[in-house]
Amino acid sequence: MERLRISVVHGPNLRLLGRREVEIYGTASLESLNAAVWELAEELEVELETFQSNHEGEILDYLEQVAGRTDGFVVNAAGLTHTSVALRDGLVGVNRPFVEVHLSNTSARESFRHASLLSPVAVGVVYGFGIQSYLLGLRGLASHLRDTMRPGAHQD
Ligand code: DQA
Repeated sequence: MERLRISVVHGPNLRLLGRREVEIYGTASLESLNAAVWELAEELEVELETFQSNHEGEILDYLEQVAGRTDGFVVNAAGLTHTSVALRDGLVGVNRPFVEVHLSNTSARESFRHASLLSPVAVGVVYGFGIQSYLLGLRGLASHLRDTMRPGAHQD
């Protein structure tokens, strides 16, 4: 079986993980989060890429560039989740399934975090489990891709 190719996208401020609002986001750094995701990707036989940017336009450029070599995305768009029509359009535009993830339970926080512009166009959403949200999201996306892609058929 051909290996699935999945890209993990971290949005604004996630480079501060481990130092930022630790009572909400925990003490693990972005590096250790990525290491856990890489380990699971190995186990699932998924080819992984990770990307972080604080800049909306850079994320849009990345989606466009990577779409040709990616079967799907795991996306924590951070604050852009609640505001960015452009990111939603970009994700729809590159025509790859994605899972939305969040470390925190956004529904239990300020009301402006309750709405996501991305959820209606995501395959699924996982939030509230810290790093496990990414791992569950990766498992869910890999399983979705294996169910929906023809064997050996990477999308162009
Ligand atoms: C977050 C939740 C967002 O509301 C917030 O803006 C973030 C992180 C999370 O992972 O819990 O930056 O996406």
